[in-house]
Amino acid sequence: VKGGGAEVRLWGGRFHSGPAAELDRLNRSLPVDWRLWRQDLAVSQAWVEGLREAGVLGAEDAGVLASGLDEVGARLEQWTQEGWAAAGDEDIHTLVERLLAEEVGEVAGKLRTGRSRNDQVATDGRLWAMTAVGALEREIRGLQAALVDRAERYVGLVMPSYTHLQRAQPVLAGHWLLSHFWPLERDVERLGDARRRTAVLPLGSGAVAGCPFPVDRARLAGRLGFEGVSENSMDAVADRDWVAELLFVIALLGVHLSRLGEDLIVFASSEFGFVRLSDSFSTGSSLMPQKRNPDPLELARAKAGRLVGELAGFMGVLKGLPSGYNKDLQEDKTALFGAVDTLLVLIPAVTGAVGTLELDEARCEAAVDAGMMATDVADALVRSGMPFRKAHDEVGRVVRAAEAHGCSPAELPGVVLREASAAVAALPLAELLEARASVARRAGEGGTAPDAVAAQLRRAKARLDLRPPQQREEAHSR
Ligand code: ARG
Repeated sequence: VKGGGAEVRLWGGRFHSGPAAELDRLNRSLPVDWRLWRQDLAVSQAWVEGLREAGVLGAEDAGVLASGLDEVGARLEQWTQEGWAAAGDEDIHTLVERLLAEEVGEVAGKLRTGRSRNDQVATDGRLWAMTAVGALEREIRGLQAALVDRAERYVGLVMPSYTHLQRAQPVLAGHWLLSHFWPLERDVERLGDARRRTAVLPLGSGAVAGCPFPVDRARLAGRLGFEGVSENSMDAVADRDWVAELLFVIALLGVHLSRLGEDLIVFASSEFGFVRLSDSFSTGSSLMPQKRNPDPLELARAKAGRLVGELAGFMGVLKGLPSGYNKDLQEDKTALFGAVDTLLVLIPAVTGAVGTLELDEARCEAAVDAGMMATDVADALVRSGMPFRKAHDEVGRVVRAAEAHGCSPAELPGVVLREASAAVAALPLAELLEARASVARRAGEGGTAPDAVAAQLRRAKARLDLRPPQQREEAHSR
């Protein structure tokens, strides 16, 4: 495969010499933006069509350019990594124009009419991002399906819930698992919002001031799958809000994966022992034969931190830029490609870990101690008319007495219990301290009672069915 030197430059005319090797090394973006080649060709095809419709290109030239671009596509399809590495061009736009000239000769120069790399790269990047959003959605849907599957499997199991990582109140395991479903659902919504703002066409903005030829931008947008056209050419070539927004959605998604990961890491430790990760999604230690390590979830925790860093770093790139295009913006692709790549490797591994995890039912149920039903006892006093504040106090005295006796409140000798709180002593304590009854009492919408969780599960499944992962497989080139 022929790569070849950087003899084509899109801006050589006014210079006596080419750039120094040191500048070239810094300035070249081809090692990163080669991944936009499909988008660059699609955008160029649409531009040829637009120029022809506007009467700027004759039918013959337009035909030559269109089939030349097809040829370039067919050639690039064959390129290996070595081919790309050998190409010395400044960026993907330069490379495509060089190859086009090899195919069709001088007429290739007409493709650049009315267009700048400034509106071109923004258009290519948005197209890439629109496809990437589809790929991310599909991965998130897969993880949500794994959570739903595990929630259904363990829906009725009672386990502790935590606040401050201290045992709080009993919940159904299905409730816990689904508590990680809804943040992901919001991530899918956020991706959809971000995609809508990404699907705005910059092409036709020229370098900064707009296009001097009557190209129909709305038709261009339709042809390329955009939903609208930008309102201001100066804004359009400088706007990378869509990158920042996607980086935020990605960083937050990373945070959600890290929190799910942390729950599983903690619950899989011997101290908790609630979760057992499958062999295929845990790793061993080279030294300690007994170890079963939750590596994929630890990596989720770590990568979330780096994704947050990508967002902060790119916000720093944008901050204070003067209006119009600035070369700083070239850094957008490194940030976005890296963040998307990270998630496309991370989410499948987390999905595998979740989909194959098992819960130790005996350990989960044994971890629910009577103290966790203290609120239920206070609630019972409230039902008989006592202010909650006083009820809290009454139960607190019983808890203290039980602690002093080293037993559960239900096991306290009658006199001790009555001395701690006559009101509590009058209640059917054994029944109130029953975990399943406690769970069943939380029957309001969004609560952990069996019926409420069953309804929640139905709604979660409906989300997965109603909005299946969008089929945007097409051009997600890597
Ligand atoms: N490689 C550039 C980028 O990624 C393309 C735009 C270059 N524009 C320019 N005026 N030099 O941003």
